[in-house]
Amino acid sequence: MALLDVKNLGKKFGGLKAISDLSFSVPENIIFSIIGPNGAGKTTLFNLLTNIYPPTSGSIFYNGREITRMPPYRIARLGISRTFQNLQVFLNMSAIENVMVGCHLRSKSGLMASAIRLPSVIREEKEVRRMAEKALEFCGLSEFSHKPAAGLPYGLLKKLEVARSLASKPRLLLMDEPAAGLNDTETTELCGLIRQIRDSGITVLLVEHNMSLVMEISDKVLVLNYGKLLAHGAPKDIQENPEVVAAYLGE
Ligand SMILES: Nc1ncnc2c1ncn2[C@@H]1O[C@H](COP(=O)(O)OP(=O)(O)O)[C@@H](O)[C@H]1O
Ligand SMILES: [Mg+2]
Repeated sequence: MALLDVKNLGKKFGGLKAISDLSFSVPENIIFSIIGPNGAGKTTLFNLLTNIYPPTSGSIFYNGREITRMPPYRIARLGISRTFQNLQVFLNMSAIENVMVGCHLRSKSGLMASAIRLPSVIREEKEVRRMAEKALEFCGLSEFSHKPAAGLPYGLLKKLEVARSLASKPRLLLMDEPAAGLNDTETTELCGLIRQIRDSGITVLLVEHNMSLVMEISDKVLVLNYGKLLAHGAPKDIQENPEVVAAYLGE
């Protein structure tokens, strides 16, 4: 069974069809990349999967369960996490505090229990801190844990966002252009990190413009063009597909 099943998905913004009749499946535990020109609908697809916007038509199944119009917080609790195309880091907070925000998604204590600081709340806070420390360590950020995010270089902030998305222990991670703005060294490091994420058992859905990165690390690639599926397959098949070359990859 596929971890994610998208069936005949459509999204219109006024007269514009941002996604049209899109169907695909993502098996568990692979790196599945979505590529395509600017405006192809990649970010919109992520917004539909996390129900930031409801689709105009079609359905989405995750782990055999329909999540099409589920509230975003419930989708997150089922184990779908994401990073954003534009950095979403709280600059006034430390690195670890930024990551702890991601863990709170899973916390169970109610407002009243938190306000009077029941022992269970204190235990839970310790657990949240421990999960955040683990996520920072996984991303190689332990030494920056207590540094204010504002002082960190851009490359580390991008990693910090990855750490936060991992802190909620996702089963499916959506990454929207994680390499944008990174230099070659940072991109190579990110490549390693994405592989490590997959190897730890998480399924990665990757939107990325850096084609050498995509072709190097993806198990499967799907090409979107004007909101429609143009091709999908192994990286090698995509690189050799004449339609894809003409529409997107170039000569
Ligand atoms: N909230 C929105 N309202 C109106 N149009 C939108 C909205 N979000 C995206 N679009 C349009 O949908 C199309 C796909 O955008 P997007 O998903 O951001 O593309 P990509 O991420 O592939 O560059 C674009 O034409 C964009 O202008
Ligand atoms: Mg985008």
